[in-house]
Amino acid sequence: MHQHDLVVIGAGPGGYVAAIRAAQLGLNVACVEKEPALGGTCLRIGCIPSKALLESSERYHAARESLREHGVKVKGVDLDLGDMLKRKDKIVSGLTAGVEALFKKNKITRYQGHGRIVGPGRVDVLSSRHEGTEARRHEGEAAAGSTVSMQARHVIIATGSKSAPLPGVELDGDRVGTSTEALGYSEVPKHLVVIGAGYIGLELGSVWCRLGAKVTVLEYLDRILPGMDAEIAKEALKLLTRQGLEFELGVRVTGARRDGKKCVVTCEGREPIACDRVLLSVGRAPCTDDLGLESVGIRLDERGRIPVDDHFRTAAPGIYAIGDVIRGPMLAHKAEDEGVACAEFIVTGYGHVNYDAIPGVCYTEPEIAAVGKTEEQLKEAGRAYKVGTYHFRANGRARSLGHIDGRVKILADAQTDRILGVHILGPRAGDLIAEAAVAIEFGASAEDLARCSHAHPTLAECLKEAALGVHGRVING
Ligand code: NAI
Repeated sequence: MHQHDLVVIGAGPGGYVAAIRAAQLGLNVACVEKEPALGGTCLRIGCIPSKALLESSERYHAARESLREHGVKVKGVDLDLGDMLKRKDKIVSGLTAGVEALFKKNKITRYQGHGRIVGPGRVDVLSSRHEGTEARRHEGEAAAGSTVSMQARHVIIATGSKSAPLPGVELDGDRVGTSTEALGYSEVPKHLVVIGAGYIGLELGSVWCRLGAKVTVLEYLDRILPGMDAEIAKEALKLLTRQGLEFELGVRVTGARRDGKKCVVTCEGREPIACDRVLLSVGRAPCTDDLGLESVGIRLDERGRIPVDDHFRTAAPGIYAIGDVIRGPMLAHKAEDEGVACAEFIVTGYGHVNYDAIPGVCYTEPEIAAVGKTEEQLKEAGRAYKVGTYHFRANGRARSLGHIDGRVKILADAQTDRILGVHILGPRAGDLIAEAAVAIEFGASAEDLARCSHAHPTLAECLKEAALGVHGRVING
């Protein structure tokens, strides 16, 4: 029986960060991960590889389409998809190796295999040999097919999520697939049908559209990006449509299957669509299979998540859960913040996450980013608010970049002027939103933001102008 202070199940952004923070605080920490590479969905088959492909496909597209406006003439632009995919894989392996190095540095014992809770303070690791690869040995790793038993005062479940299935959609791990397959198509599809206009559908739909595929996005709702500010989502729809993505809104997909080398997608009240690849992106579901939750009396909620209190405590004493497996947005940084807060709570009795200040970014071109409340949420809550808007086309830096689409929209409390929400559609929105998150975290007013010096010429000036706009005092516009 191996003894540890803390066992973390799952080495994604939630789990590995929790493990490191707990080790920093002096605990003897073990982390169980079934995959050979650390880093979870985010590093291996999510955020990072998708961003690599988004960047590469954008470069390809720019070389073909938009460099001319800069007076740069490029002849004979060719796509080497194999090289593009190799670059992505190299970025992933570099980062996952980095997490391994962090584990060593922080003296975290790594177990490779499936972690299962077998009673209070007890976790078994069921080791499995990965097909096609020789099982790598780690400190504390069980031999293939065997079980290692551990005892720990504290256990954190950070097992993440997987693609949610859709009844009727027959995934075949190839032509009808999820984001995992869409990160590695061996050739550019002629026609890709994307089911669901959320983050994944729009990001990966953009990648393949830029590389030359006809992309049709089918969305059940009458809008894209549910949960995002409606006005911003509407403008994003216009811009993405202009780029060549085809959207069919208000369409309920009832099935998809492979048919020889083709695929057929069926929808309610519409002719079936023939295509050569299907990407299912209708959300994600928590991973709780075979975790042994019943052995400690943990029952899932109606959406398959592990219920926790404000300190990530489950119904079972000493067992905590963080990240995609609990309530809240399924975002890597939300899981990271919870990992830190949970480790700190275990050791110090304190640990906190401010769910009102968690930004979200969709890496389309232009990027779409948000933090805090949407206009719809404020209306529903009956809260009086003021709006300040500033368009990138009036900003010198945006003009010099040649990225003038989009806007910054700031929502502030009508009485106190406190910033309640910031929504950005435009160049580098994902980086710009950091300022807004800090402002919300510090309880800033629109006036505070407007009075902070912003370097010129920068895109960030659009935030300052939008903050001035809350009081009708925009300078350049
Ligand atoms: P999502 O929840 O963002 O969007 C799913 C979409 O599918 C919704 O618009 C929904 O209305 C639609 N849908 C559901 N059933 C449908 C049907 N039968 N027919 C047509 N449309 C249907 O889910 P997505 O894009 O799969 O992302 C999953 C999670 O991963 C999200 O929570 C997201 O936050 C996260 N993620 C975050 C990224 C980022 O931070 N950049 C990137 C990718 C994913």
